[in-house]
Amino acid sequence: MRVLSGIQPSGKLHIGNFFGAMRQHLALQAENEGFYFIADYHALTTNPKPEIIKEHTFGVAMDYLALGLDPEKTVFWRQSDVPEVTELAWLLSCVTPMGLLQRCTSFKDKVEQGLSPVHGLFAYPVLQAADILMFDSNLVPVGADQKQHIEVTRDIAIKFNNLYGETFVVPEEHILKSVAVVPGIDGRKMSKSYDNTIEIFEPEKSVKKKVMRIVTDSTPVEDPKDPETCNIFALLKLVALPDELAEWEEKYRKGGVGYGTVKKRVVELLHEYFGPFRQKREELENNRDYVEKVLSDGAQKARAVARQTMTRVRDAMGLGDIRNG
Ligand code: ADP
Ligand code: TRP
Repeated sequence: MRVLSGIQPSGKLHIGNFFGAMRQHLALQAENEGFYFIADYHALTTNPKPEIIKEHTFGVAMDYLALGLDPEKTVFWRQSDVPEVTELAWLLSCVTPMGLLQRCTSFKDKVEQGLSPVHGLFAYPVLQAADILMFDSNLVPVGADQKQHIEVTRDIAIKFNNLYGETFVVPEEHILKSVAVVPGIDGRKMSKSYDNTIEIFEPEKSVKKKVMRIVTDSTPVEDPKDPETCNIFALLKLVALPDELAEWEEKYRKGGVGYGTVKKRVVELLHEYFGPFRQKREELENNRDYVEKVLSDGAQKARAVARQTMTRVRDAMGLGDIRNG
């Protein structure tokens, strides 16, 4: 099965990105044909500075490689190294009803957060559809917040196939229900845009400081507490083994345990979980040529597939054959 996903280089990757998306990407590469890319064209929709986008693109590449992305098995590239995808986005936009995009909540949310309402931000889901349809993806593992964009992709693919004949594979989505949304240290969804993240490779001291700042209610130590609504428990669920988690749950419900104690344990568990990957991350930091080579090899493989798709799509729509150009 072909599995495709992208992640924007819009900041340093955090544990919400890891548990909500990357962990599934990495797990799926063993038994599938993985196509993973760094969505730098998408990140432009928020107008970052050029040097920042470069730095974050590299950071995302190093994070993935350190955490176990295998470039021998998986095609891994920087989106803008395969510019065919922007052509496909235009062709798809010609069959995309305005209403479909107007219903997307992420444009409204981002504008409410203060982002500039540029056309690229509005048309973002069409570029995402182009990413997915370009590579005949069957499965698109993403976090719950991306569900709507996958539905838009499916609608566009169906519409196109109806108008021009069977051209695109209609993808399924894949969401791990148990880790729907990882809360940030302020209790809102953990997100690069809210300044509430714990980065995957953040220095340990700083992880500790942030975990200690996680917002909780003010239930006294001796009183019973509700694990379901607790932001610390939500993190515990991600990193504790089932037996330990069950013990904490019991302690919460019984009372007698303070949030400070649980926070300390979360710090230890995060250290145990991500610690083993830190050395690899440092090695990559000192071997940037290798990282660049992985990305450019990946782009070549992705481009070969993209060219085939574009020949098929151009032909279906009555455009010229670019190979004659
Ligand atoms: P951010 O909100 O930090 O900018 P992105 O929108 O770039 O994150 O998301 C990258 C991937 O990580 C997506 O698949 C998204 O669903 C997932 N993701 C992001 N934040 C979270 C979170 N707090 N919980 C679970 N998954 C998340
Ligand atoms: N919109 C996705 C996000 O913010 C990133 C993305 C771009 C993507 N193109 C994609 C995800 C294609 C899956 C498939 O997380």
